[in-house]
Amino acid sequence: MCGIVGYIGPGACREILLAGLARLEYRGYDSAGIALLDGDLRVAKCAGRVRDLASRSAGLPTTAAAGIGHTRWATHGGPSDANAHPHVGPAGTIALVHNGIIENYAALKTSLTAQGRRFRSQTDSEVLVQLIEEIVAADPTLPFDAALRLALKQVTGTYGLAILNTAEPDRLYVARRGSPLVVGMGDGEMFVASDAAPIVAHTTRVVYLDDGDVAVISRDGFEVRSIDDVPLTRQVHELALSLDAIEKAGFPHFMLKEIHEQPRAIADCLRGRLVPADHVIQLGGLSAVMDRLMAAPRLTIAACGTSWHSGLVGEYLFEHLARLPVEVEYASEFRYREPLLDDRDVLLAISQSGETADTIAALREAKRRGALTLGICNVVGSTLSRETDAGVFTHAGPEIGVASTKAFTTQVVVLTLMAIELGRRRGTLAPERADALIEELARIPAKIGAILAQEPAIKALADRFTYAPNFLYLGRSFNFPVALEGALKLKEISYIHAEGYPAAEMKHGPIALIDRLMPVVVIAATEHTSDKMLSNIEEVKARNGRVIAITTPGQEEVKRLAEFVVEIPATDDALSPLLAVIPLQLLAYHIAVNRGCDVDQPRNLAKSVTVE
Ligand code: AGP
Repeated sequence: MCGIVGYIGPGACREILLAGLARLEYRGYDSAGIALLDGDLRVAKCAGRVRDLASRSAGLPTTAAAGIGHTRWATHGGPSDANAHPHVGPAGTIALVHNGIIENYAALKTSLTAQGRRFRSQTDSEVLVQLIEEIVAADPTLPFDAALRLALKQVTGTYGLAILNTAEPDRLYVARRGSPLVVGMGDGEMFVASDAAPIVAHTTRVVYLDDGDVAVISRDGFEVRSIDDVPLTRQVHELALSLDAIEKAGFPHFMLKEIHEQPRAIADCLRGRLVPADHVIQLGGLSAVMDRLMAAPRLTIAACGTSWHSGLVGEYLFEHLARLPVEVEYASEFRYREPLLDDRDVLLAISQSGETADTIAALREAKRRGALTLGICNVVGSTLSRETDAGVFTHAGPEIGVASTKAFTTQVVVLTLMAIELGRRRGTLAPERADALIEELARIPAKIGAILAQEPAIKALADRFTYAPNFLYLGRSFNFPVALEGALKLKEISYIHAEGYPAAEMKHGPIALIDRLMPVVVIAATEHTSDKMLSNIEEVKARNGRVIAITTPGQEEVKRLAEFVVEIPATDDALSPLLAVIPLQLLAYHIAVNRGCDVDQPRNLAKSVTVE
């Protein structure tokens, strides 16, 4: 997804912008550019990586007092120098970088073209800078921020913007609707970025802009007004982010670091929420809404991608432990069903980034219908965390790798805590089972550590299947969502086609795909489904499929039948997703590395999809 950086101050502007863009690379992009303001606008931009931009911009002046930068994830028009941001109006006085989609760009472009304007790119973003320039040209006496507001009022869609204007060399303009922007407050210098990663090296004092905000930033501070020109105040937050949290710490990839961080991430997620000795669960973020949650006739979960998979695990957890009916919705499809929600309902939005446009849209739709909205999120200050009525942070630490790993396991931990607590309060979970689950949950970090210690064996397995053309992942019950997640991990970083399926469902079609070239990962990690999983393994073997079993001690028959076995520690069936997913993360990672794929920034993907 696109990334924005901006700087105003006495520092080395070009270097600060380039370093900031490098911190945003994890979001996924295909082009990059910067504009410096040293009286005139000096622009360098290109299709390619930030390192290509560094050489392309080597000749730019070092004396600029302000600048903006951008990493582009193509929406309108493919990757090209012309389509890269910043976009500069024909007058050469206004430069703009944009994250989001101007949905009515075609109509605006037609109107501007009719007024004689010519465009140099295929992007929706260029329409915006030309519109601003047209408004300024029509009335040069208009203050720039007023012209900016007039332009934004004509726009439908989403934007995060940073704008330079040669007429105001000591100002940086930013605006936000639907695409996040964070302002960093330095000492005699100010920063702006799409998230905190480019800012944390300079300051930990940040302000999160809200939708509709238009801010004017100078070296010494900022002023925020609404799009209707009403002065606003925004709270200054202290970032809980550290620089080393966004470094690789010796790992070859962020993804591998984050896979190995899971024992600590889960321990951090549990800290202050689980007291094993007293069998106490404390979810402070939900205490104010627990009554409404208890009274809800059902729970609706909305999410995307991996977060949708954790939501599916949640469905099994809530229905099994709390006997609470659950519906799990693709967030992007939720609104098209004209959801039958009212004020008795609860919508739980799950999102690592807290900025996924589809999930935010589902959250807003549920809120509009009167439902209580809860969030499970990993980013403090994110849109989702600020728009839900209540929620729980996963405390996994920054997840930089595009392929989600520790976010999934910590989301499942939060869902497990919620389901146990609800089960106890609703009287559907026997106290001794609840106590046993709480005690076992506290042992999960160590059990994940034991699985991580098997990485060499899992890598050897990856080496065998690096060039398989397809994979099938099968699981039942709590491990059906894990099959989906394992397949997603593989396909999104190795580009191998992979499908996750309910194991029994394999007989209703996909079995036709099975032959000696098809590795079939069978997750046989739950006691209550082991007999049926044996039948599935037999069915795969009867068709010469290559069976890779993720299983637990004592499943001797599974181990006898499978061609390859990864043994994970035994645990309660309800907690098995937390363990079964680990080998699948490592398998996908090592296959992708073997294939020379860009593991942390897979092609076409973005870390946070802030467009619908
Ligand atoms: C998962 O590995 C992918 N990166 C993607 O499916 C991701 O889970 C999805 O885009 C949702 O992101 P979110 O959790 O930040 O909302």
